[in-house]
Formats: sequence, C-alpha cells, structure tokens
Amino acid sequence: MTQPALSPDVSPAFAAEVRAGLTHAPQKELPSKYLYDEVGSALFEVITALPEYGVTRSEERLMAQHAVDIVAHLPHDVTVAELGSGSGRKTRRILEALCKKRPTSYCPIEISRTALQLCRRELGDIERISIVGYERDYLAGLAEVSRQRASGERLLVLFLGSTIGNFARLAATRFLREIRAMLAPGDALLLGTDLDKPVPVLLAAYDDPIGVTAAFNLNLLARINRELGGDFPLDAFEHVARFNRDARSIEMHLRATRHVTAQVRAAQLTVTLEAGETIWTESSHKYRVEEVDAMAHDAGFACEHQWLERDWGFAESLLVAR
Ligand code: AVJ
Repeated sequence: MTQPALSPDVSPAFAAEVRAGLTHAPQKELPSKYLYDEVGSALFEVITALPEYGVTRSEERLMAQHAVDIVAHLPHDVTVAELGSGSGRKTRRILEALCKKRPTSYCPIEISRTALQLCRRELGDIERISIVGYERDYLAGLAEVSRQRASGERLLVLFLGSTIGNFARLAATRFLREIRAMLAPGDALLLGTDLDKPVPVLLAAYDDPIGVTAAFNLNLLARINRELGGDFPLDAFEHVARFNRDARSIEMHLRATRHVTAQVRAAQLTVTLEAGETIWTESSHKYRVEEVDAMAHDAGFACEHQWLERDWGFAESLLVAR
C-alpha cells in the first residue's frame, strides 16, 4: 500500500524536536508548546471552562478586580508585548484600562497562528488600540518588539496564565533573565503564577472527569500523525496526571497501555514503547508568593507589587527591571 504524501509544509523544527524527545532516555518526552495547534488551542479553551480547572477564571477575577490598580502602578507610555497571547480574554481588562489613558500599541507574540487570529478577533475592538502580531518564539519576538519601540517608550511585557509554570524552576529563572536582558531599567513584566494548592485539587484540574484534558494531551500524538506522517495508535495511549512532590509540579504523561511500535516519517524515526511506559508532555509548576519575589530578584527585577486571588489561589506580580 502506498502511503499518503507528506505535507510539503512539514515544520523541520517540529520534526527535530519530536525526534529528540522520543529518543530521550530513560524518559521519553515531547515539548508542551506543540500541544497548541488549532485543535489543541480549541481544547484548551474548553479546559478553561471546566469547573475543575480554576486557573483561568481565577486570573480573570483578579484582572476584573485589580486592572485599574495594576495600570496605576505601571510606568507611563508603555508599549505592551504579550508572550503567548492565548485568546486574549484575560488581557482585555489591562488593555482597556491602558487605552483609556492613551492610545496603546499591543504586540502579541505567539507561535500559534490560530491563537494570534483569535486574539485579534477578541481584542481588536478596544478603542485606541493598535495590534501588531508576531508569529515567533517568545524571545525572538520580544527582541524584535524591543528593537522597534520608539525612544522614550517603556516596555510592559505580559506573561500571564501561569505559562511560566511549564518551565522547571531553574529554567524559569533563566528565562526571566533572558527577558530582562532585552529590557531597560524601568521596563516592567507582569507575571501570572498559579499558586500551591492541595494535591487532590490539582489532580482533578489536570485529569477532569469528562476527559477534555485527556483529549488535549492525546491530540499531541494525533498532531504528530497528521503533520509529521506518524502512525501512533491513539487507542493504545491513556492520559495520566501526576503530582511531582520534589518539583511541586503537575506532570502530564501519555501512557502506552500495551507494547507500541510507531513510525514518524518526517522525523525519520521508529519508536517503541513498552506497556506502561510514558511520554512526558507537560509540567505545570505551582508557586508560593515569596518564591516569585525571590526568582524575580535573581533575574534582575524588583517585585514591586503582587495582587492575589485567594478563592482558587493565583498571583499577578509586577516585576520592574533594575
Ligand atoms: C496554559 C500552561 C497554563 O499548565 O495549567 C491546562 C496548560 N495543561 N491543562 C497549565 C494546561 C493541562 C496550562 N497552561
């Protein structure tokens, strides 16, 4: 039987990272940023509506309550760059409060074209906003925004939704340091972090009873099948959420329920998994408020203010470049 032709627009970076991750020993892994294709982004939107997943609603409540106060603490004349625009819903309050004061440029930076389009649709109607999207990696995009800003303009970087939680703790500090390197003293970073909470609450949030998070996770293999000519049998994998006590993170894995051999043509790869073996697809680290302050300081920022949402447990921290 002849196989379907590989799509001409296979992403070489995606293929290379899949190859590296699936040959990684002893723990196979895949980068979580690839969870967000069109299907994955839509599933994540559903996750944010699940009763068990309180993260997004908590941040939205925080923003609804404190946006005006947050904006009052910001430097004047800011250009806003957002890392990972998401759908833009949680950003709306901040942008509205800023644009009320003066016309504001908003630069969402996002590797997902779908997410950029959603964001433009979501926020394009705000008065006196001008939106310039960057379809780039976070740091490459931020470098470009920083280079193009007018002199005298301050930069406000938004890194919301607890996306920072996807980094291991040391890598998170390193990442903040890389952001800091592109900023001038007085520029600011608004950082959203999901806070520590009881393990059963976390497990329910990342393994919901109707299986949306499971579908979100499994879609990563489905995406590899679609885009890289893979043949993973999806019925041989199950979603697993586990709490890593040392890292204080929730890990998502895909566990093979039987022995699996699969090909990924665009990555020139044959992988085998033993029954019970897992592929680690994401980590979500949880933070203590003091920890954010310490990490910020290590990275060359001063944590000037924190706003907390206590019903779920979420913090927004305003970090100013020293
Ligand atoms: C978008 C990275 C913040 O870690 O909570 C939700 C992604 N994964 N459910 C998170 C996610 C499973 C989410 N972030």
